[in-house]
Amino acid sequence: MAGVRHPYSSLVSAITGAVLIIVAGTAGAQGDPKRGQKLFENCAACHAADGKGNEVGPGLSGVFGRKAGEREDFRYSPALKRSGITWTPQTLDNFLADPQKAVPNNRMPFSGIPDARERADLISYMQQAFK
Ligand code: HEC
Repeated sequence: MAGVRHPYSSLVSAITGAVLIIVAGTAGAQGDPKRGQKLFENCAACHAADGKGNEVGPGLSGVFGRKAGEREDFRYSPALKRSGITWTPQTLDNFLADPQKAVPNNRMPFSGIPDARERADLISYMQQAFK
């Protein structure tokens, strides 16, 4: 490899880079957002469907990339505020699998979604609805 600079090598690395970005962009989002929308009914009792206002739970719009417990207008548990979590598809997946295990003593009264496939569907929906 080293030393031989093929005329197409920069093109090849550009393509490789693009493929990596596509792969990274879809990682954790292979779910089906249509099925995810249905699954969000489990959350909608407490989280507004449009993500805006707070209900029993905090509004979730803009949740990806935000630190846990950061909405100024919602009274979170000390446990969630101190968790140090930044919400990404991966951290959300871990939280939703078993909220009390992920963040002991948080105040979200929800037992979790054990099925990884369902979590992937739900998270891909949330990425569209609450980005
Ligand atoms: C029975 C009410 C209830 C249900 C059902 C519920 N939540 Fe929550 N959720 C809450 C409450 C209350 C909090 C705040 C917890 C705390 O402060 O410890 C919360 C917090 C969260 C947070 C953290 C938000 C932030 O700003 O840090 C996320 C993400 C979340 N819920 C997602 C979901 C999803 C997805 C579902 C459905 C699978 C769901 N919740 C189901 C009440 C609920």
